[in-house]
Amino acid sequence: MGENVELRRAREADIPALVGLIETVAAEGRWIATESPLDRERRAAGLRVRLARSDGAVFAAVAGEAIVGEIWISCDWPGLCEFGMAIEAPWRGKGIGHRLLAAAIAWARSTGAHKIALDVFPHNDAAIALYEKAGFLREGYHPRHLRRKNGELWDVISMGLLL
Ligand SMILES: CC(C)(COP(=O)(O)OP(=O)(O)OC[C@H]1O[C@@H](n2cnc3c(N)ncnc32)[C@H](O)[C@@H]1OP(=O)(O)O)[C@@H](O)C(=O)NCCC(=O)NCCS
Repeated sequence: MGENVELRRAREADIPALVGLIETVAAEGRWIATESPLDRERRAAGLRVRLARSDGAVFAAVAGEAIVGEIWISCDWPGLCEFGMAIEAPWRGKGIGHRLLAAAIAWARSTGAHKIALDVFPHNDAAIALYEKAGFLREGYHPRHLRRKNGELWDVISMGLLL
């Protein structure tokens, strides 16, 4: 299981590892909107901004020295937060996603936010099950919503959790 995995706030020194994690998960080509090849510089710059924001947080799941999972959450509208998360494939199904999501929800609550929202692909059973277990509801279905690099148009489900 993932008991030997620790959660902590991410810091600037983690940026290369966080970019690498997203690159790996993007390369799977199925789960997240970001696609390969990643613009590493742009991603790193985005993370640097995210880490400096007071209306957002990034948590890392760390096994030994390695970052094996992450969740970012930020509130671009007053009290309305969005998040994205990713766990390295070998570390999935060990409760790490559940712990990261709980940390992000607790952070959002601590800021007085009223809602957390996100988009997910309908074929992402693991993510949808994780979110529903945390109390998120399916709020909308958007057919042929996101254009992939290969030209396919993928459906998207929007989900939300009222805090
Ligand atoms: C989605 C993701 C974050 C889940 O994290 P995880 O660490 O694997 O999830 P956990 O082990 O904490 O599981 C939590 C719950 O999710 C559900 N779940 C996890 N894996 C599942 C699977 N393969 N199928 C169905 N449900 C699953 C279960 O309800 C589970 O609770 P349970 O163990 O009590 O039954 C992870 O699979 C991942 O990083 N996937 C690739 C990137 C991604 O999809 N990001 C989200 C994009 S919206």
